[in-house]
Amino acid sequence: MATVTLEKLVKRYGNLEVVHGIDLAIRDREFIALVGPSGCGKSTTLRMIAGLEDVSAGTIRIGGDIVNDLPPRSRNISMVFQSYALYPHMTVAENMGFSLKIAKRPADEIERRVAEAAAILHLEPLLHRRPSQLSGGQRQRVAMGRAIVRHPEVFLFDEPLSNLDAKLRGEMRTEIKKLHAKVQSTVVYVTHDQVEAMTLADRIVIMRDGHIEQVGTPDEVFSRPATRFVASFIGSPPMNLVDGVIDAGFVVFANGDRLPVPEAFRGSVTAGEKVVFGLRPDDLYPTGHGLHSGEATAVHETALRVAITEPLGNETLVFLEFAGREWVSRMLNPRPLVIGEPVRASFDLARAHLFSAETGRAIQRKGV
Ligand SMILES: Nc1ncnc2c1ncn2[C@@H]1O[C@H](COP(=O)(O)OP(=O)(O)OP(=O)(O)O)[C@@H](O)[C@H]1O
Ligand SMILES: [Mg+2]
Repeated sequence: MATVTLEKLVKRYGNLEVVHGIDLAIRDREFIALVGPSGCGKSTTLRMIAGLEDVSAGTIRIGGDIVNDLPPRSRNISMVFQSYALYPHMTVAENMGFSLKIAKRPADEIERRVAEAAAILHLEPLLHRRPSQLSGGQRQRVAMGRAIVRHPEVFLFDEPLSNLDAKLRGEMRTEIKKLHAKVQSTVVYVTHDQVEAMTLADRIVIMRDGHIEQVGTPDEVFSRPATRFVASFIGSPPMNLVDGVIDAGFVVFANGDRLPVPEAFRGSVTAGEKVVFGLRPDDLYPTGHGLHSGEATAVHETALRVAITEPLGNETLVFLEFAGREWVSRMLNPRPLVIGEPVRASFDLARAHLFSAETGRAIQRKGV
C-alpha cells in the first residue's frame, strides 16, 4: 500500500519559509498532479517526498510509515526529472539497469527487469543504442524506463515533458497515462501544463505561494473552483473575472454595466458586497452565431460590440466589450464577425461563479 501523506509539512531555507504547513493525503495508486505558478513550492514539496530535501517541520508518510529521516534509496520511490541526464557512454539497456547494478542485483534479474520495462515503454528495438542516437522523446522514455525497473511504489515526476515539443509532449502524455494503468503505482506529477494535469490526474492539487488552494478531481477544480485564483489558473482561455458590487439584485460593474445576480447566489450575497463575477468563455456567446458547448439554462441577453476575433480552426475566440473591458467567448463555427459589429450576447448565468472580492473565496451556492 503506497499511500503518501503529508502532515503540516513545512520547508524553510534559512529564514525564508517556502512551504507553509501543507496537508495532503494521497491514496494508494492515485495519480496526483501538483500545479501552480513558478516558485509556488511544487518541486520543493516533491523533493521532500523523495528525500532530496530535508523537512523543516511536519511529517511525510509513505505506506503509513514516517520517512522523514530515511534516505531516498530506502523510500521505495523513483523520480523522473525535467532534465534526464542519461549516461552518454552507456547503451539504453545499461542506462536502464544501472541502479539495479549499483544495488548489486544479479545479472539475469537486471536483464529481465530491463526487458520488462522496455516492453512497457516500446524501447526493445533501441536497447543497444546510445543516448546520442535517440530522439528527445525516446530519451525521455529511457529516463522513465530507468525509474520503472526499480519497481517503486511511488513515482515522482517533476515536469518530465517540458523539454519536448508540443506534439511529442502530447504523445508522451498518452504514454504516461498508459504506463500508470499498467504499473499501478502511486504517482505525484508536477507540471505547470494544466492540460497535462487535467488529462492525467485523478486529483489535482493547486498550489500558490507555498500553500494549497484546492484539491479536487479535474471536474471539481474546473466546475467548482474554490477560489478566484483557481478559477483564473484552471481553464484556457481563462475564466472572465470582473470586479463588481451587489446592488438590488444586480452585480454592478465599475462602468455601471450590470448583470442580474445568478439565481443560485441570491440568498448568499448582501447589498454593497464587493464580489468578483466569473464566467467561462464557453458560457458567453453571441446569440445565434454558430455553436457553443454550454447548454443554455439561465440566459441573460444584452447588446455588445465585437472587439476582435481569433479563429483557431476548430473554434473561434470572440472578444466582446462589456463592463469596460473585453470578455472572451469561445465559439464553434461562428459566422464571420466584423470588428466593431454590435451583437446580442448571451450570458449563461446558471454557470456563472461569484467570489468574495475580499477573501477571494467562492461564494456559497444554494443547495450545495
Ligand atoms: N535552495 C534554495 N534556497 C533558497 N530558496 C530556494 C531554494 N530552492 C528553492 N527556493 C525557493 O523556494 C520557492 C519554491 O521553489 P520551487 O522550486 O519549489 O518552485 P516550483 O513551484 O517548483 O517552481 P517552478 O514551476 O519554477 O519549477 C521559490 O521561491 C524558490 O526561490
Ligand atoms: Mg519546479
